[in-house]
Amino acid sequence: KSADILKELEEKCATPSEKLRQIADAMTVEMHAGLASEGGSKLKMLISYVDNLPTGDEEGVYYALDLGGTNFRVLRVQLGGKSGIESQEFAEVSIPPQLMVGAPDALFDYIAAELAKFVADESEKFRLVPGRQRELGFTFSFPVLQLSIDSGTLIRWTKGFSIDEMVGKDVVAELTKAMERKGVDMRVSALVNDTVGTLAGGRYDNKDIFIAVILGTGTNAAYVERAQAIPKWHGPHPKSGEMVINMEWGNFRSSHLPLTEYDNTLNAESLNPGEQIFEKMISGMYLGELLRRILYRMADEAALFGETVPPKLKTQFILRTPEMSAMHHDTSPDLKVVGNTLKDVLEIRNTPLSTRKIVVEICNIIATRGARLAAAGILGILKKTGQDTVKDSEVPKTVIAMDGGLYEHYKEYRHCLKSTLNELVGDQVAKHIKLIHSNDGSGIGAALLAASHSQYI
Ligand code: BG6
Ligand code: GLC
Repeated sequence: KSADILKELEEKCATPSEKLRQIADAMTVEMHAGLASEGGSKLKMLISYVDNLPTGDEEGVYYALDLGGTNFRVLRVQLGGKSGIESQEFAEVSIPPQLMVGAPDALFDYIAAELAKFVADESEKFRLVPGRQRELGFTFSFPVLQLSIDSGTLIRWTKGFSIDEMVGKDVVAELTKAMERKGVDMRVSALVNDTVGTLAGGRYDNKDIFIAVILGTGTNAAYVERAQAIPKWHGPHPKSGEMVINMEWGNFRSSHLPLTEYDNTLNAESLNPGEQIFEKMISGMYLGELLRRILYRMADEAALFGETVPPKLKTQFILRTPEMSAMHHDTSPDLKVVGNTLKDVLEIRNTPLSTRKIVVEICNIIATRGARLAAAGILGILKKTGQDTVKDSEVPKTVIAMDGGLYEHYKEYRHCLKSTLNELVGDQVAKHIKLIHSNDGSGIGAALLAASHSQYI
């Protein structure tokens, strides 16, 4: 019976290349629709107000604050113009879960207090210009309708956050008020999404980067679009002729997506039912939870773990993606890691090897589906920007900056993503496409954008 459930899962999660191509085409169609008008598509295609990416000439001390991934980070960098980054320091703190669903002031006060501590403890190697206010790039990794480079209202929360009163408010104004309450004298000069920060940080090192993809707790992509290809943009025509677009691709959906009953119940019971359907199939917050749901059904209907359903298996989000990844990568002959994880996390003891093999197989099915869908999303962007074909042998390289815990730590996922992208574009084009891991590039990117939008230049 477990074998039947497994077989059904495999069939429902199948992502043959024709299906992925249909998904990529649907993504391209939605990109056009989202660029045409506000609310024109499930894909928000948000205008970032970033029309110039870092050049490498940025100079001075700048701060960055990064909220929205697994951890919250603060960073300070000394940018030395042509000599690059001269020094950097950062601090990382986890956000207490109750603050993610509590009152807005509690969250922003907590952030501002961490920032105050960080500022207080500043080493002399950072050469601040006397009399100048400190400036900050704020990476806020949620959908925001930007009003300018340094302001924007929260459209909705995603991932594990849900603070209703914040929706519709200007996140920079909220942070600024909290900084005032905590006695931090700092100006937010750039508000950016993590994808936009990663794109900016990546560009500082590599001029060929024009797409950034985050695969972490959530998933999203940003890319450089021609300003003329954005009908909904009524602002002044940028000199560069370009504008960075935050796609918010996590909210993509299409009838071609291979959704299963597990996806549907996960979605229905989530903090944001009906939203972020692509994200819920792909990203780190949800993969482990999908695994739990499948194991639960096997335990319930096919007695996978004996007569009764192990009680821990009923707890939502108890199995996290790092544990799923550890089980998936278990190469020991008796699948010891799988056995220990089932024991430690779910209190299921003495699982036979045959059961452990089923667990690994499920991990493989879910991770493969997620990685292949992410590759299809990238193909959608390549198609939209005409980089999915090689026009002549001189075509410049397309470099994609990747970041996020899932991409960084889940090796099978990362490899599957890359090989699927190659399979979809073909060998000729694949030679021109490079994925690079831009580790924590979004913090640097936000600081660089704070520098280029400084009040002093
Ligand atoms: C980090 C970036 O490296 O990755 C963040 O600095 C980003 O801006 C994060 O939000 C996403 O990954 P995760 O796994 O922390 O959600
Ligand atoms: C979610 C957020 C998005 C962010 C992504 C990755 O999808 O809505 O803004 O970029 O997670 O962190």
